[in-house]
Order: sequence, then structure tokens, then C-alpha cells
Amino acid sequence: MKSKILPMRRILFIHGPNLNLLGEREPEIYGHLTLAQVNEQIAAFAAKCQIDPVFFQSNHEGQIIDFLHEHRREAAGIVINAGALTHYSYALRDALESVQLPAVEVHLSDIHRREAFRHVSVMREVCLAQISGLGVESYRRGLEVVLGFLARKELQQFLRETKSVDAAYRQCVQILKRDFPKYDWAGIYLVEGEELVVHNYIGAPTPHTRIPIGQGICGAAVAEEQTIIVADVNADPRYLACSLETKSEIVVPIQGRRIYGEIDIDSHTPDAFHHHDRETLEDMALDMAGFLDEQTPK
Ligand code: SME
Repeated sequence: MKSKILPMRRILFIHGPNLNLLGEREPEIYGHLTLAQVNEQIAAFAAKCQIDPVFFQSNHEGQIIDFLHEHRREAAGIVINAGALTHYSYALRDALESVQLPAVEVHLSDIHRREAFRHVSVMREVCLAQISGLGVESYRRGLEVVLGFLARKELQQFLRETKSVDAAYRQCVQILKRDFPKYDWAGIYLVEGEELVVHNYIGAPTPHTRIPIGQGICGAAVAEEQTIIVADVNADPRYLACSLETKSEIVVPIQGRRIYGEIDIDSHTPDAFHHHDRETLEDMALDMAGFLDEQTPK
């Protein structure tokens, strides 16, 4: 099937006051990387997600607000480390709200283990999430949250425009495989009687095209009617190997009036699936289930 070529989505990566001194300012808290090196790392993983990153740093509240205003129409999302402005800048909070773009607040250090004034964020409520304490990884996860939000919107739009259940399943897999490079294998299994049957996937060919309900991680998720995340597949006796490279897996049931099937994702990265992966995939599964309920006679 032909995949649509999308224009590269522009994501703004904004660094606030004092982040220009990264590498020399309190490296025991902020790490040894300079801002240029942090941006290089962000650019490297951004390239794998097929987005167009735009970087900006300023020590001045008003300049950050101006930057947000200037880019509000052509940007698709924001990952912002506002530094100390996080804790008191209502003006920046209002700017983030005004531009109406999905935004995630990130911090290199764990702001909740530092001084009390850093525990409050005035921008948290206008952001999709706050991710803190993971160094550059905070930015990567921030980007994943923004991409998750956009992926869900894209699927919702597709579901409004199609009546084809097959096309919907395929679109869901394509979006996930395109936007999340750590999703090395993404597919949909459908419930058929007492079995799960693979509907479509992108990734290495799997020997498990049919899985009895109750077997494997896939079968367990349907039997238990809940998402299962396996951080280390080799330590889970239920795991049915699809590829030797797989290290972790998430399976999310598509459950409406009944369980129609499930989204199954494998990663070559150990412990690849976090809270925000679960949220994005469960939201997408819910949208799919609503669509399937509408398309299926009662
Ligand atoms: N690992 C799955 C089997 C399917 S492959 O991952 C595609 C399981 O344990 O159920």
C-alpha cells in the first residue's frame, strides 16, 4: 500500500534562562553536556521521528514569548525546558496556553528532589505532561508525548473520514510505525473465536500469525482484558518470540462492546515502554473501539 508523504512536522525545542551555560553550570545537577551537545542529541532522535526540530534558547521571558507567537502557526508542537521561569512565569504560562499547540514541560534535573520553590510549576496545567530528572532523555520522552498526541489526532481524523474497518486497522499501524522509531514491530491481532489472528503489521515476519487466547503476552492481554507491558521479554515465561532482537513488548486490547483485537508493539530496546506509551496506545485503542462499535451491527 502507498503511504502518504506528510510535510515534516515542526517541533519547537525551547530552553529558558541559564541553559546556555549547560556543561559549566553545576554539572553534578545538570550534567556535562553543553547546550549545543544537548541539541545535537535531540536533533539525532528527532531525525528518526521525521520531524523538523527548531531550537531556541533565551534568558529573557519576553523573547521566549515572542518566539512562541512567531512560530504558533507553522509549528505542530512544543517541548519546553523553561528553567526557573517554570515556577513563576504566568506570562509564559499564558503564552503556552494562547498558542494552542500540544506542549510538554521538561527538565534535565529532578525538580521534585530539589529546593521547594522548584516543586511548583505554573505551566504544568497547560502542558500535556511534565517530564523531569532524566537528562536529555527528558526531551526525547517529551517529544514522544507530543507525537503521541498528534498520532491520536491523525487517527481520529482518519476514522471520521473512513468507513473501512480494514483501512482503519492499517492506518493505526502505519502511524505508530512511522512516528515511534523504538516501535520495531507494530501490528494488530483480531479476535476470531478462541484465537487471535494477525491482521496487519510492519516489522520482521512473525511466525505467530495465530495465537490461542490465553497464550503468549498477546493472548494474556485479551484473557485479562488489560494492557500488558513486559520490560524484559526474556524474563517472562509467557513470551512467544517473534524475533531474537525483541527486548520488550506492550499489548493493548481494543475493547468496545467486545474485544475486537489488540495493538501489539515489540521493541529492540529493553524497557522501552513507559506510562506515556501506554496512555497514547490506550487512547488510540479506545478511538478504534468506538469506531468499530459504530461500524458493527449490535
Ligand atoms: N510476542 C508475542 C507474540 C507475537 S510477536 O511479538 C509479533 C506474544 O508473546 O504473545
